[in-house]
Amino acid sequence: MTATHDAVTAAERCTPEFRRDPHAVYAQLRETAPVCPMRPPHGNETYLITRYEHARAALSDPRLSKDMYGAMDAYRRIFGDSSVALDDNMLNSDAPKHTRLRRLVNSAFTPRRVQALGPRIEDIAGTLLDACPAREPFDLLPAFAFPLPIIVLCDLLGVPPQDRSHMQQLSTTVAQTGFSEETKRAQQKAEEDLHAYFTDLIAAKRDRPADDLLSALTAVRDNDGGLSENELVSTAFLLMFAGHKTTAYLIGNAVHHLLSHPAQLRAVRENPELIRPAVEELVRYDGSVESATFRYATEDVEYGGTRIPKGALVQIALSSANRDPLKFDAPDELDVMRPGNAQDAHLGFGHGSHYCLGAPLARLEAQLALTGLFDRFPRMTLADPAGEPRWLQVPFPAFRGLAELPVVLDPAK
Ligand code: HEM
Repeated sequence: MTATHDAVTAAERCTPEFRRDPHAVYAQLRETAPVCPMRPPHGNETYLITRYEHARAALSDPRLSKDMYGAMDAYRRIFGDSSVALDDNMLNSDAPKHTRLRRLVNSAFTPRRVQALGPRIEDIAGTLLDACPAREPFDLLPAFAFPLPIIVLCDLLGVPPQDRSHMQQLSTTVAQTGFSEETKRAQQKAEEDLHAYFTDLIAAKRDRPADDLLSALTAVRDNDGGLSENELVSTAFLLMFAGHKTTAYLIGNAVHHLLSHPAQLRAVRENPELIRPAVEELVRYDGSVESATFRYATEDVEYGGTRIPKGALVQIALSSANRDPLKFDAPDELDVMRPGNAQDAHLGFGHGSHYCLGAPLARLEAQLALTGLFDRFPRMTLADPAGEPRWLQVPFPAFRGLAELPVVLDPAK
């Protein structure tokens, strides 16, 4: 077998070696098969794009559609008979519907609303850290990285505090990736529950509007009117789904990599203003969204000399594009002072019309979570600094995150 063939197999089958170090496999694919036909377990003809130049172009190529209604069979093979009602949102649509939905949601999800969450995010981080053991090893993911974004999202949307753990549980079930019937059944049930929950909550917000995003979304209007009932429920679902694990895994990856690169961590601690570029660099270096969501070709298209036939699915490996040496010098090095690492240099939040709507919130959460953690526990270490990190095993490259992150906050001297 050739090295390329091994790399393709590793990527399409998501082998444990690939999950451990996808970057090595991507490096090989970028060199030898940058637009690579794959036969993933869901059985749809799929092409994987790994170079920065192609990835950036593909993310904003109108011939690569995000309108899932146009590729329903493929969609069902991947996600099962998921509650299509919940998917009637901007991420699954093209212009002009996408433009309308995004404009309406943007008019309520304003920069001011995001900035106003800052003090609350600091409070939440502080309260979660209060409850963590200082001297013994524990897993930072369930104690800090996962609850932080879900509490923020509940506050943002206006989900009452007593429903948070229910939300966290439903959101976690929906975001599972797997092809087993059991996983699909559990996902479907959780989606039905979320649908019922948001339908009731939206009715309550209409009756008694409060100062939260869901109330604001019920009121947004443009010349063509507001969001339909179904679009409202689907948008609430999208924000919860898109904003939870993504942020949680980024915080986990960031803590892991900073603790493994003490000089980088020291630089950030000594220069607090470095936290902004540091978060950009951490998103580039090992962001939490490994591949963009599926697109499909509405006509034959060509990338890098490879023809992608009409109807094929396209996966864009953001993690690979972000390590492309043709774009970034020494891409495998974490460098929080990397020159020119502006927010739009890396593709960790996507690119083009579907660029992450929640990026300002995700950035703020990551910056405040890391600052809160390292200011309070400057001596924090990995529980087993010499040990191999355990990365998430997923059946196709979607999230990039740790399965666990054992740390000691304040080791005895
Ligand atoms: C570190 C955290 C996050 C990362 C790495 C991330 C990444 C991404 C990426 C790569 C996309 C584009 C997907 C594609 O083109 O296929 C996206 C879209 C989106 N994200 Fe995020 N995201 C994060 C957090 C959030 C948060 C906190 C929210 C909201 C509360 C959010 C809401 C959205 C929405 C609504 C879209 C769809 C935009 C559209 O279709 O126009 N994300 N995100």
